Amino acid sequence: MESPCLRIAHRGASGTAPELTRAAIAKALDIGVDMIEVDVQVTRDGHLVIFHDETLERTTSGSGAVREKTWDEISHLDAGAWFGAAFAGESLLDLDALLTLVGSRARLNLEIKSPPADWPILVPSLLRALDRAERLETSIVSCFDMDALALVRAASRTAPIGVLWYLPDLAAAWRAVEALGAVSLHPYVGIAQPELFAEACRRGIDSCVWTVNDTETMQRLITWGASGIMTDHPELFAEIASAGAGTR
Ligand code: G3P
Ligand code: CA
Repeated sequence: MESPCLRIAHRGASGTAPELTRAAIAKALDIGVDMIEVDVQVTRDGHLVIFHDETLERTTSGSGAVREKTWDEISHLDAGAWFGAAFAGESLLDLDALLTLVGSRARLNLEIKSPPADWPILVPSLLRALDRAERLETSIVSCFDMDALALVRAASRTAPIGVLWYLPDLAAAWRAVEALGAVSLHPYVGIAQPELFAEACRRGIDSCVWTVNDTETMQRLITWGASGIMTDHPELFAEIASAGAGTR
């Protein structure tokens, strides 16, 4: 039986709205994606914030490292003007605001972006917040660092884990998947190949590719059996669907 390929908005609809802001998340929800990928970090005062970069300069009116700020210090920064004047006034989201905004309209893929020193605070806080919102079982917690994911697994036997991978050594990726009891492998599009999807299928896990911003590659990945595609341009999924290729 064919199963649908998960349509995943990368940092929200970040190709047409400032990444990880309310505007980008709302746009992805309006498009009707299945899942939204976000990055999570922790502030100096232990607040979980949805933010990609280590520092504030590129996408906000602030400066300095996120982990050295308190939530109060960064919660009112402008996170939209860099993208376009129409988005001026967009602010950063914290995890609770994200969970409220998304509700049950889409699943979440939460990528741990903080450095190791912050994991002992971030991991339990993240799992607690997801559990409190009754979103733990439907979300995926991912990271490039297997040690962070080992902490997730140690804290929760059931948290769905996604292994982020960009290296050509796929044998190591499968070992990590197995050791962590991961539900999903998230390969960089540059290492995606038909054998990877066949192996994921054989193991009964998902395979969600990042970051794909053209319909030709989307189409090819679907044909190869990818179970999810992350894109900055989720509006492109409509073109794929109208070409009759929304399933794998
Ligand atoms: O989760 C996949 C992808 O988001 C990883 O790269 O740098 O966009 O967080 P990055
Ligand atoms: Ca990410």
